[in-house]
Amino acid sequence: MSLIEQIRESEKHISDQLSGQTPNIGLILGSGLGVLADEIDNPVTIPYHEIPHFPQSTVEGHKGQLVIGELQGQTVVAMQGRFHYYEGYSMQHVTFPVRVMKQLGVEKLVVTNAAGGINESFNAGDLMLIEDHINNMGDNPLMGKNVDELGPRFPDMSQAYDRDLIETAQKTADEIGLNVQRGVYVGNSGPTYETSSEVKMLRTLGGDAVGMSTVPEVIVANHAGMRVLGISCISNMAAGILDQPLSHDEVIETTEQVKQQFIQLVKQTLQSL
Ligand code: 6GU
Repeated sequence: MSLIEQIRESEKHISDQLSGQTPNIGLILGSGLGVLADEIDNPVTIPYHEIPHFPQSTVEGHKGQLVIGELQGQTVVAMQGRFHYYEGYSMQHVTFPVRVMKQLGVEKLVVTNAAGGINESFNAGDLMLIEDHINNMGDNPLMGKNVDELGPRFPDMSQAYDRDLIETAQKTADEIGLNVQRGVYVGNSGPTYETSSEVKMLRTLGGDAVGMSTVPEVIVANHAGMRVLGISCISNMAAGILDQPLSHDEVIETTEQVKQQFIQLVKQTLQSL
């Protein structure tokens, strides 16, 4: 079955469960940030394993379901849990849900993640509006024959993160008195965290934060002509900045602490999208 046919089947399975709502905003919720989906009103919840052609989620702290409903007056479709390249999924599988979101009618995508701080002026617990990314994953979801119906062979990536959406989020942060960082997200494959030498390299290359997600989804969203807003929760400083080892528990703990700020920022921003 062709990719387009798979996308259509997935989309049909989802829209058959909706009573006419058309989500126009997509949310991809990263580690520890899935709680935002619990705030969605009149939710229709669909586990990934029920959706034809969707991969299954395996990571702790990820629920693995779509939640569709109302949030701040917008109809949204949220991914509570995402697929990671390091889990062994192909880039095409990691990004399949973004294709389905587009098919559902999504025009704006809010992508979130937990990331390590590379910029030495950052602190654990900061939120960062993503201004740009560096694809350091060694792969690209658009490899292979281009499906012209889905987007162009050589997509422009000069404004991968929409400037207007960044300004809207910044204005919202200012209004609620939340100090947010801005910077460049580096996508690494994982699953290892970086060595301190790698962190030094990534800083030299212009990175401000590093994580193991987001880049594939944002590439496909751009290919599909969607506008993207990206927000990183700086859950810890990357290796070599503070003299301490990294642990997944620390990542979960910090996101737990900034969850409320994160929820407030995304919800308030949604109102203005
Ligand atoms: Cl320090 N590195 C990577 N690659 N991903 C992370 C992280 C660090 N902290 C949270 N996620």
